[in-house]
Amino acid sequence: MIKNAQNLMQHITQGVYVISVGQGQQQNAFTAAWLMQVSFQPLLICFSINPQHHSYPLLKQSSVCCISILKHDQLLEADHFGHSSPTDKMQGYNWIQTETGSPALADSLAYFTCRVDHYTDAGDHQLVVCEVLNGTVLSDAPPMLYSDTGDMDGSSALYGK
Ligand SMILES: Cc1cc2nc3c(=O)[nH]c(=O)nc-3n(C[C@H](O)[C@H](O)[C@H](O)COP(=O)(O)O)c2cc1C
Repeated sequence: MIKNAQNLMQHITQGVYVISVGQGQQQNAFTAAWLMQVSFQPLLICFSINPQHHSYPLLKQSSVCCISILKHDQLLEADHFGHSSPTDKMQGYNWIQTETGSPALADSLAYFTCRVDHYTDAGDHQLVVCEVLNGTVLSDAPPMLYSDTGDMDGSSALYGK
């Protein structure tokens, strides 16, 4: 087994995102770091989701999402959306309504509205390949890096021993 897997993985440069899923009354949002562009034509983005998340069935039902890029100083937001909650996690934040129905975090660096193209199995996660429909840059602040979040996601306990 690889030693220091968490430390190694945090040296891959990754941003931190809040991905809102679902439409109408059925919405949720979660923090994600495993995301990248995967095609020019069509413009595709891919992210990795744990199918155990509350957000997963909402994504499957609606096939739309909105990816908001966090700014470097938004650790509280990364933490808030990075944990499941019995209450509505989206309450208390300002959201921009988008054409897909999945809202964008108003206080973020930029956002993309997306439609799911397809899913692929990836170990204990699913890769979600999405077509980017639209997007807006909201700020010129630097982005958060995954390495800024330390062990916020509890991943030190999740790598194989
Ligand atoms: C910094 C950070 C990065 C994360 N990256 C991912 C990720 O890329 N994919 C994922 O499925 N979960 C990721 N998570 C975990 C989810 O955000 C977390 O499990 C969340 O509670 C899921 O929300 P839900 O159950 O309300 O859908 C990350 C958490 C944090 C704090």
